[in-house]
Amino acid sequence: MPSLEEELFPSTPGKFKDRNRHFHRCFASTSNMFLWALFLIALTASYLCFQSFMDSGNRYFTSTWGGHHWERNVINSAQIRRSHGGMSVLVTGAAGFVGSHVSLALKKRGDGVVGIDNFNNYYDPSLKKARKNLLTQNSIFIVDGDINDSKLLVKLFDIARFTHVMHLAAQAGVRYAMENPGSYIHSNIAGLVSLLEVCKNSNPQPAIVWASSSSVYGLNEKVPFSESDRTDQPASLYAATKKAGEEITHTYNHIYGLSITGLRFFTVYGPWGRPDMAYFSFTRNILQGKPITVYRGKNRVDLARDFTYIDDVVKGCIGSLDTSGKSTGSGGKKRGPAPYRIFNLGNTSPVTVPMMVAMLEKHLKVKAKKNFVVMPGNGDVPFTHANISSARKEFGYKPTTDLQTGLKKFVKWYLSYYGYDQGKL
Ligand SMILES: *[C@@H]1O[C@H](CO)[C@@H](O)[C@H](O)[C@H]1NC(C)=O
Ligand SMILES: *[C@@H]1O[C@H](CO)[C@@H](O)[C@H](O)[C@H]1NC(C)=O
Repeated sequence: MPSLEEELFPSTPGKFKDRNRHFHRCFASTSNMFLWALFLIALTASYLCFQSFMDSGNRYFTSTWGGHHWERNVINSAQIRRSHGGMSVLVTGAAGFVGSHVSLALKKRGDGVVGIDNFNNYYDPSLKKARKNLLTQNSIFIVDGDINDSKLLVKLFDIARFTHVMHLAAQAGVRYAMENPGSYIHSNIAGLVSLLEVCKNSNPQPAIVWASSSSVYGLNEKVPFSESDRTDQPASLYAATKKAGEEITHTYNHIYGLSITGLRFFTVYGPWGRPDMAYFSFTRNILQGKPITVYRGKNRVDLARDFTYIDDVVKGCIGSLDTSGKSTGSGGKKRGPAPYRIFNLGNTSPVTVPMMVAMLEKHLKVKAKKNFVVMPGNGDVPFTHANISSARKEFGYKPTTDLQTGLKKFVKWYLSYYGYDQGKL
């Protein structure tokens, strides 16, 4: 049996107990006074240990999250400011590309929004900071923290009653998994489960909309990709973790009554986009006069993508939140069946990569130096093409921006953000 001290203060080393027992054996006949003194010494030592433990805990909290001021920020940001049907949404990955756009759109119509982001350095953190500033200017508070930090999530749900979670935090990119496979497990698996655990335990439970990926269609050849098609031949670890996420969320829906909507995004692009994506890095390289690498499939077949403009995806995210239906569980128990949905959010008109490059050349008024290379078999798929009839039927999803128009807006943003000269550095 552990001593009382150990039960209360797990950080206390076992020394005290052993010494106590040892002394007890040797000095069984000694006066009670001596034992009392010893007990007091042990108690004082335990107390000091406990206090230093609490101090270091507090230092950790103040350096990242916690405190009165921080809590007020969370509460204010989560506040709903419209009269009918408003929601309070926790947006994970809020300093990310899609996360920042969705947060702004929700705030604009009067919903409560609290963001969370770990600002990791997978790509230039200064771009994430700039997005954060944009959100701060619009009265959206972003918590600097990790979704796998359960204590932080519990705290957030304690102080703000989120009706919805828009879960967009993830480790993205297909080739980066060969360098850092662990980060996909950390965010896309462990982080997802930590988040679902907290959602399932909260009362009332929020409805969850989260980002899956078109990459779950893997090596499928039948086009367009429909939600009911097979998704058991992923071509990358990224795709495999997203597929796992679909299965994991299904179990939380089934066991705990969480309302779940998974969105399979198709190559989302636009202003404030991700620098690791081809259209973005091509723009940078073309402006700097550097060659770009254009992958081709077998037999020189061009790769094609169903590029989807950010504003269309935002409408899809918000349509999903508005139609999510309620979670039915409370206190970790299911009280009835809850919705489980999966939607493609694509554009339905694939464009080949060389055509995309030609559009960039036109908007940038610079010719690209293209190196055609056979696509390595390490994650990319030859083409994607979404069947979006399901999202259209459920919430009227209808993309309106073609690639030509969307890239024009992207280039305009790129040049205003980085400047013409910086682009040429
Ligand atoms: C995520 O959090 C859990 C529980 O706090 C922890 O055990 C685990 O090591 C973390 N996983 C990763 C991959 O960081
Ligand atoms: C698109 O998906 C719907 C189901 O949402 C299906 O009925 C339809 O046949 C699919 N269309 C094509 C062209 O595959």
